[in-house]
Amino acid sequence: MRKHTNSAPPGVDRGKDEFLAMLAHELRNPLSALRNAAELLDGEHTTEGDHAQATHIIHRQIENMSRMLDGLLDVSRVTEGKIELRRAPVSLESVLTAALGLVRPACAAQHQILSLTLPKDPVYVNGDATRLEQIFGNILANACKYSGIGCSISVRAERAPDTEPPEVTITIQDDGVGIDPKLLPHIFDLFVQSTRPSHRSQGGLGIGLTLAQRLVKLHGGRIEAHSGGLGQGTTFTAHLPVLRLAPPGPVTKPHVHELPRRILIVDDNTDSARSLAMLQARRGHQTCTAFTGPEALTAAMTFKPEIILLDIGLPGMDGFEVAGRIRAMPEIGRPLIVGMSGYGSREDLARAAAAGFDDYFVKPIDLGALRKLLSDPFPSAARARFANFPITGGTEPLDLKSMVNGRHAGSVRHHSRD
Ligand SMILES: Nc1ncnc2c1ncn2[C@@H]1O[C@H](COP(=O)(O)OP(=O)(O)OP(=O)(O)O)[C@@H](O)[C@H]1O
Ligand SMILES: [Mg+2]
Repeated sequence: MRKHTNSAPPGVDRGKDEFLAMLAHELRNPLSALRNAAELLDGEHTTEGDHAQATHIIHRQIENMSRMLDGLLDVSRVTEGKIELRRAPVSLESVLTAALGLVRPACAAQHQILSLTLPKDPVYVNGDATRLEQIFGNILANACKYSGIGCSISVRAERAPDTEPPEVTITIQDDGVGIDPKLLPHIFDLFVQSTRPSHRSQGGLGIGLTLAQRLVKLHGGRIEAHSGGLGQGTTFTAHLPVLRLAPPGPVTKPHVHELPRRILIVDDNTDSARSLAMLQARRGHQTCTAFTGPEALTAAMTFKPEIILLDIGLPGMDGFEVAGRIRAMPEIGRPLIVGMSGYGSREDLARAAAAGFDDYFVKPIDLGALRKLLSDPFPSAARARFANFPITGGTEPLDLKSMVNGRHAGSVRHHSRD
């Protein structure tokens, strides 16, 4: 965090206390919306309309909070060089269309006009599709946030002439509030925000642009911000290296059906366990819940699950120990053991691999990814291990075999988990 300097431009001299106050404020907003929604669902006179509205609010606010927490974690990982890109040929069109899709509802609510101009021939980047979407999603979210009703936001991608390696330039332009020239040179710094209340009214933590810049850099590119000053709109220009040749045609994924599964859900947070079980039961799966390690062992023996969703931070006997014991009980068979935790570091993965886990979800669980996992016809045999683990610390490739043999297990932090 930045130290206080008297000559610092607006928004740059943010102290720790001010940042924490802002963070608390940002977290309180979704909490109040969630409390109201719970009240709406609880009331005697709840109509169907209230129900739909409250459910919608809950989903949106969970998304908001998850995005905020993910952003904070991402920013700490990216500053420590711990984000590893999962690169593949990605069509720029699909990335920009997806990023626009993220902001479309917010822009529509403000009657803003969005436009996208792409080069005549398709452009492919050797990049991480999720991270590329995050980059342009953050910049577009700002364009939407910091432009008023009816403003225009344009996205234009064009091949840069004669660059080596070949590059594409993506320009995102808005005619919104603009950026103070004193703030502009610091705009990509962590936690830097305009101090103008009108610009802050929509919240945010001041990390979106830092993340965008670092992720562009990881892709071998660069990004700049331009603004004529307050009230003059803002333009962000990103340059990314592109693939010379179009990759072979898109691989179409076979359609998979979700089979009914026997799922044991273990979490000491009974609300989390029960709600996850209810959601899975709704999809036709058979579920069983356990709230402690010993209960999980008994349930594993009697219920014979195909898949165990296992919280790591159980009191007493933690998830690692439960997994280890289950793997030592051949009468249970070989269920797929999937960890669930609020933590997700390389060390956690190493420890989970050593304990016999097959996969690992960081909370809150991405239900789409879980659905995909459950629809795998041969989950324990055919899947890549830890396919859902989203984070890797360090840049060297993961050596799961040595992790399973316990070589990395000694370096694991021991701390209390949720
Ligand atoms: N398009 C824009 N127009 C005007 N000001 C902008 C624009 N984009 C960014 N800014 C300014 O830069 C600051 C930093 O942006 P950044 O995206 O890093 O943080 P944020 O939007 O405040 O919060 P979040 O962490 O949610 O993204 C913003 O607070 C805003 O003052
Ligand atoms: Mg932002």
